[in-house]
Amino acid sequence: PKQRRSQYEIETFTGWLLQQEQKGIIDAELTIVLSSISLACKQIASLVQRAGISNLTGLQGASNIQGEDQKKLDVISNEVFSSCLRTSGRTGIIASEEEDIPVAVEESYSGNYIVVFDPLDGSSNIDAAVSTGSIFGIYKPNEECLTNLGDSPTIDEVAENCVVNVCQPGSNLLTAGYCMYSSSVILVLSVGKGVYGFTLDPLYGEFVLTHKDIQIPKKGKIYSFNEGNYALWDDKLKKYVDSLKEPGPSNKPYSARYIGSLVGDFHRTLLYGGIYGYPADLKSKTGKLRLLYECAPMSYLAEQAGGKGSDGHKRILDIQPEQVHQRVPLYVGSTEEVEKLEKYLA
Ligand code: AHG
Ligand code: MN
Ligand code: MN
Ligand code: MN
Repeated sequence: PKQRRSQYEIETFTGWLLQQEQKGIIDAELTIVLSSISLACKQIASLVQRAGISNLTGLQGASNIQGEDQKKLDVISNEVFSSCLRTSGRTGIIASEEEDIPVAVEESYSGNYIVVFDPLDGSSNIDAAVSTGSIFGIYKPNEECLTNLGDSPTIDEVAENCVVNVCQPGSNLLTAGYCMYSSSVILVLSVGKGVYGFTLDPLYGEFVLTHKDIQIPKKGKIYSFNEGNYALWDDKLKKYVDSLKEPGPSNKPYSARYIGSLVGDFHRTLLYGGIYGYPADLKSKTGKLRLLYECAPMSYLAEQAGGKGSDGHKRILDIQPEQVHQRVPLYVGSTEEVEKLEKYLA
């Protein structure tokens, strides 16, 4: 007789990972990398929740290659992420918002995955305890450029090789996801067969499956833009945003929701529908968000959930990165909302 399911049987992230491996969707190496990422997220969650107590709010007193003043937790979460990936032994190269250039991981014994990440997204919100997150994406190494390294490559050759390995279009992503540090700590990811969400149960520190195969609503009446930049926007974009404020036939205009953390604004958009946008403007000609570890992972998730990610004209996942920290405009969310925006910008 079939084993009766125990009422205590819960599905954890670890169990779900093993299932994906048994189904052949991911291999054992990638399972290890994803498991190490979930550990990093648990550690960062606890650091973020106790920031004020352990004097970890405020500035580090250094700036990153983006020209941003690093928060203490930007730097610490970068170290947490990097060391978890290093000890996984399956990570070949890491690229982080907080690292000037990609880093080749010496402790990579097999797998050699390329991992790109934003260790703490929305870090300007940390001191006010507003939602933040970590974003990650994983690629296979670029075979041909690994081979043409020869047997005793110089440091520059390895560095150049790392950039080539890291600068892959989002369409190459094997998996991507984020962990949101908010009223709940929720790990959301896809391994190419839909989007799944796992909520951290603080009672025993496990991520428990709470969102199965998330489908983003086809449309939604929430728009999420920083309208403080309105004066700097292209006229076509102004017309689009103005149109959202007209009551229209439903007699109700759109609602504006913007918390200044991509992970938090995206998570709400993924579940409730609508559109998140970070446009280019007169000041930032190519927008603010970074293609590799913000726009591509979020667009990958949006597509896996039946939505879209666009730079206003083309699919984010088709964009071939030229530099590691390259910025692109991002419009992501419900298919109908992104397509409506693209029509205004055409
Ligand atoms: P990060 O904290 O990783 O540098 O990212 C901040 C990004 C993103 O999280 C957010 O949506 C956006 O910056 C907010 O920018 P504005 O404050 O210019 O609206
Ligand atoms: Mn930053
Ligand atoms: Mn970010
Ligand atoms: Mn960041």
